[in-house]
Amino acid sequence: IEPNYDLMSQWAANYVVAKINAAKPTAEKPFVLGLPTGSSPIGMYRGLVKAYQEGKVSFKNVVTFNMDEYVGLPVEHPESYHSFMFTNLFNHIDCPKENIHILNGNAHDLAAECANYEKEIEKFGGIDLFLGGIGPDGHIAFNEPGSSLTSRTRQKTLTTDTIIANCRFFDNDVNQVPKTALTVGVGTVMAAKEVMILVNGHAKCRALQAAVEGSVNHMWTISALQMHQHGIIVADDAACDEL
Ligand code: GLP
Repeated sequence: IEPNYDLMSQWAANYVVAKINAAKPTAEKPFVLGLPTGSSPIGMYRGLVKAYQEGKVSFKNVVTFNMDEYVGLPVEHPESYHSFMFTNLFNHIDCPKENIHILNGNAHDLAAECANYEKEIEKFGGIDLFLGGIGPDGHIAFNEPGSSLTSRTRQKTLTTDTIIANCRFFDNDVNQVPKTALTVGVGTVMAAKEVMILVNGHAKCRALQAAVEGSVNHMWTISALQMHQHGIIVADDAACDEL
């Protein structure tokens, strides 16, 4: 727990940098990083870019897998998760394009796209560190309440709550928000060797309480983290209001 957003973001960025450096990744044995979108990780991404610019870390031998992507939104749309990742991280670091994996929400065969994503993760020996955020309803990636805790990458329908929460990025117009997304499953995230979740702001305090003090259950999918051997939650004071 850090007193504010800037400090928790810096803590998270330092942790990621230390992990990558400790692994001494090579082209043959890259460090495999799972990445989120949303407003929560923006400060951490700023910290990672700064660390790269200061020569404290290189992403040359880092392979990335993003958590999710909207279905049907053009890749070049400013609110696609592709755009988000390039704007906030990939345009500013030395991660080779071929190391970057983001689900294609415009694939002709969405089920095949999801199955291949899981295979690709496996090909790299699994994810070393999965970073994430949560929605106010405790969803991780787009694993909405009710998702199986053993779920794998698939297409999910967004809940009305999530569509309303995300309409701030779409001119506050719910009709512009895609209604489905491709997302890694809760099981995909939990299969990572380590999972680090960023939670900030009062709006997330009920989700954090359910995640930490509630039972493990599929209505608050982040609660699955309680079962992980190496799960970390990085929070600011405001997110801890209900603990
Ligand atoms: C979306 C994303 C999640 C993210 C959540 C919270 O639903 N699919 O991965 O954790 O938003 O976003 P924010 O960090 O902007 O509150």
